[in-house]
Amino acid sequence: MKQAAEDFQNEVETTVSFLRERCGERPEIILVLGTGLGGIAEKIENALCLPYEMIPHFPRSTVTSHAGNLIFGILGNKRVAALQGRFHYYEGYSTRELTFPVRVLSLLGARLLLVTNAAGGLNPAYAPGTLMIISDHLNFIPDNPLRGPNVDDWGPRFPDCSRVYDPDLIALAIDCASRHNIAKVVAGTYVAIPGPSLETPAETRFLRMCGADAVGMSTVPEVIVAVHAGLRVLGISMVANVNDPDNFQPIRFEEILEQAGQAEGTFVQLVMAVLRNL
Ligand code: HPA
Repeated sequence: MKQAAEDFQNEVETTVSFLRERCGERPEIILVLGTGLGGIAEKIENALCLPYEMIPHFPRSTVTSHAGNLIFGILGNKRVAALQGRFHYYEGYSTRELTFPVRVLSLLGARLLLVTNAAGGLNPAYAPGTLMIISDHLNFIPDNPLRGPNVDDWGPRFPDCSRVYDPDLIALAIDCASRHNIAKVVAGTYVAIPGPSLETPAETRFLRMCGADAVGMSTVPEVIVAVHAGLRVLGISMVANVNDPDNFQPIRFEEILEQAGQAEGTFVQLVMAVLRNL
C-alpha cells in the first residue's frame, strides 16, 4: 500500500514536470468536458493540444464517445486546461487513477475546477436538456480517491465537505443563465453511481428518496480531489433523460448522446459566460 502510494506520487510529480515544461503560463481553470460536450474545446484559443497517450502516466479513455486530449489555451479570457474526455470507475480504474489528471493540473497551479457531465434526471420537474448547476453531491461509488496514505503536501487527511460547490460560483452560473435567457437552468444534488449498468426503476426511486436530483457515473471523484487540493468547484450537469420510476422508459445511450448534442449550444453559451465573468 505504502509503495503503491509512493509510486503514484512519483508518477504525479513526473507528469507535473512534463507539463510544466510545455504548457507555458500556469492554467487557472481545469475544465472537465463530459459526454457529448467536448465540442467547446474547439473554441479554445492559442491551443496546445496534447493527446493523452503523449503524456506520461496519463490514463487512456476507453469510451468511444470521449476524445482523449488535454488542451491548454485561452477560453473566455481565462487560461484553461481542458480535459476532453474523462475516465470512469466503470472502465476499471480506481478513483485515484481516474482523478490523476485533476491532481496533476491542481499541482500545476490551477485554482478552480469547472466540471461537466451528462446525467439522468430524477427530479420530476426536470426535462431533457435542463442544465443543473450542482449544489451538492452523494457519492455512491464504492471508492474514494483519497483512500490510502495522505500526501500532506497535497491536502488535509480529512477534507471538509460542508461547501464543496462554491456558493458564489453557483450564483454566478444562475445569473449568467438568466442574463443569456437560458430558461432551463436549476440547482440540484448529483448522485454518482458506479455503473456501467443503468438504474432499475427501484434504484431510481431509491436515489430520488435519498435526495438526489440527477444521477450519473462521474464527477464526484474529480470533485473530491479538487476539494482536497483547495480548489473552488463549479459543476454543471446536462440532464439528458428524465427517469420516472412509475413509468420507466428504456434509457438508450445513443439518446443520451443525441440530447447532449442538442443541448451543447446552450451549454457552451453558459460555460463561456461563466468564464468571462469569473
Ligand atoms: N443514469 C446514469 N447515468 C446517466 C444517465 C442515467 O439515466 N443519463 C446520462 N447519464
